[in-house]
Amino acid sequence: SKGGYDHFMIKEINEQPNGVKETLVRRLDENRNIKLDNINLTKEDLDKINKVYIVACGTAYHAGLVGRYAIEKFAKIPVETDVASEFRYRDPFVDENTLLIVVSQSGETADTLAALREAKSKGARILAITNVVGSSISREADDVFYTWAGPEIAVASTKAYTTQLVSLYMIALDMAMKKGTITQEFYNQVINDLENIPSKIEEILNNSDEIEKIAEEIKEAKNAFYIGRGLDYYVAMEGALKIKEISYMHAEAFAAGELKHGTIALIEENIPVVAIASQGSLFEKMVSNMEEVKARGAYVIAVAQEGNKEVEKAADRVIYIPKVNDILASILTVIPLQLLSYYVSVKRGCDVDKPRNLAKSVTVE
Ligand code: M6R
Repeated sequence: SKGGYDHFMIKEINEQPNGVKETLVRRLDENRNIKLDNINLTKEDLDKINKVYIVACGTAYHAGLVGRYAIEKFAKIPVETDVASEFRYRDPFVDENTLLIVVSQSGETADTLAALREAKSKGARILAITNVVGSSISREADDVFYTWAGPEIAVASTKAYTTQLVSLYMIALDMAMKKGTITQEFYNQVINDLENIPSKIEEILNNSDEIEKIAEEIKEAKNAFYIGRGLDYYVAMEGALKIKEISYMHAEAFAAGELKHGTIALIEENIPVVAIASQGSLFEKMVSNMEEVKARGAYVIAVAQEGNKEVEKAADRVIYIPKVNDILASILTVIPLQLLSYYVSVKRGCDVDKPRNLAKSVTVE
């Protein structure tokens, strides 16, 4: 049941503080060390692994892009993230020193499952992140990390994404501690920051009226662009997918630095540009990109961390998220984008939970 909400999607958006919390606490022991019951990746196993692939589709792929960043940053292992339908057909270099991480909410996505089988036949170790106990992917993987999102009914994935992010951060931290690439102090800090995420998501959700107003302003737009740098670019991709999928508004995500290599030609009067600017080291550069599109008439909606008032000079609207460790910002910046898609979809009279032409779980290749 929808528990008093109009749609499953908005119910599931609101369930994220809890999903994130469950995914985290179920994997921490009383000393806040990570315990991965179904995962048996020892230090010796990790020392053998010289390549990690993260393979998934759609939203799960977008989570995988953030996962790549976290694993490379924390555990210093080279990672490639690929969409399952591409990975399979490009004859990737996979052997017994490869770790394949597959990410799938349903655990039944045909392309992801096929990629798993192929990599397994070449000797790779398979770690699955999935939300469904007993799913095909969970049964065929060597190790399984379950997300604790609870059932996701809406076709548009929301709480699966944020819990996948938490899972990937935890896997990255676990690998890093085993390999000795981060200090205990750093580990404690990130765990502490993760523990504070649910209440920060709550704060953003409490502000959803403001996002609904922005949805009202942009609901008639034919096109929209989402821009970001670093982790914010990956979230831009997720935001663009979400609005396309449920409101049928054409949207594209661009790495903000790529604008001047072609796409800025598309910017015209009043086109909504959602600019995600949560990363401190890239903040100034993002502000200049926002100024560039604003000068060409774009309606700029920025997402930034509280306190970074400087975005206001380059934006028509700013959605502030609570201050957060930059590395974890994706778990927060995505929330306003989910809400924006939801409200635009409702206002355009679309079938929010069951968008046309789509199925919840794609079991054909
Ligand atoms: O069940 P999976 O996570 O394997 O599904 C992957 C994609 O089909 C899925 O994330 C899809 O992109 C969503 N509908 C996006 O909201």
